[in-house]
Amino acid sequence: MHVDESDGDNNDNDSFDLDAAYAVETPDDNRQLYKNWAATYDTGFVDKNKYSYPKRIAEICAASVSATSVLRVIDIGCGTGVVGVRLSELLPHAVIDGADISAEMLRIASGKFRSDSHPVYGELSEVDLTLPITFAQSRYDILVSAGTFTHGHLGPDPLIAVVSTLKPDGQAFVGINKQHFVGNGFERALQGAVAAQLITEPTYIEIQMYDEGSAHYGDVAIVAKFRKA
Ligand SMILES: C[S@@+](CC[C@H](N)C(=O)[O-])C[C@H]1O[C@@H](n2cnc3c(N)ncnc32)[C@H](O)[C@@H]1O
Repeated sequence: MHVDESDGDNNDNDSFDLDAAYAVETPDDNRQLYKNWAATYDTGFVDKNKYSYPKRIAEICAASVSATSVLRVIDIGCGTGVVGVRLSELLPHAVIDGADISAEMLRIASGKFRSDSHPVYGELSEVDLTLPITFAQSRYDILVSAGTFTHGHLGPDPLIAVVSTLKPDGQAFVGINKQHFVGNGFERALQGAVAAQLITEPTYIEIQMYDEGSAHYGDVAIVAKFRKA
């Protein structure tokens, strides 16, 4: 995730602490950052900055799959559940699970409900996705992710590792910060996974991470769409 200081009010209680954001390097840094940020993430970051990246990932996914099927979905780095909320509106029959390192972000996600009063998420797993994947293998039809594959968060190795949670032929819709797509090795890792016949050749779509009117409008993510081979 890239956030700049252009709105100039980052030290109030509703804002993301940019010094902490830039200092994030390790899983423990992420745990601490999102522990502090969880309670205000939805209002103080998503709403305030018109952060539309999670909704766009959900919409790209929903446009590519059957809305009437009972699909099992994993949301990687689900955070407070912004992807899941939108996806549950568009794919009401989907069973959506989430995985994230932050217990506090997951607690917020667990309090999100669908219009029929059922929880948005089924299973929520508190896991460090830099470690070997143990919470699921070959279980999901769909993998979605927004805001998590970026500098200081999850890198290219976890991106390829999480593919193991998909069933064969399962589909992935993974957002990757464009600024770090080549330099941090995401593009190379995806090419390697194609060569190793782990995934199909990805198609890439560029999306805005923030809506027009946000101070951060212009920050772009690449959405990699592919299938587990
Ligand atoms: C910018 S937030 C995105 C949250 C949500 N997907 C959204 O779009 O609003 C990045 C998320 O990645 C999670 N994360 C960072 N490092 C992680 C790790 N090593 N394992 C699992 N999740 C991690 C954070 O806890 C945080 O919830």
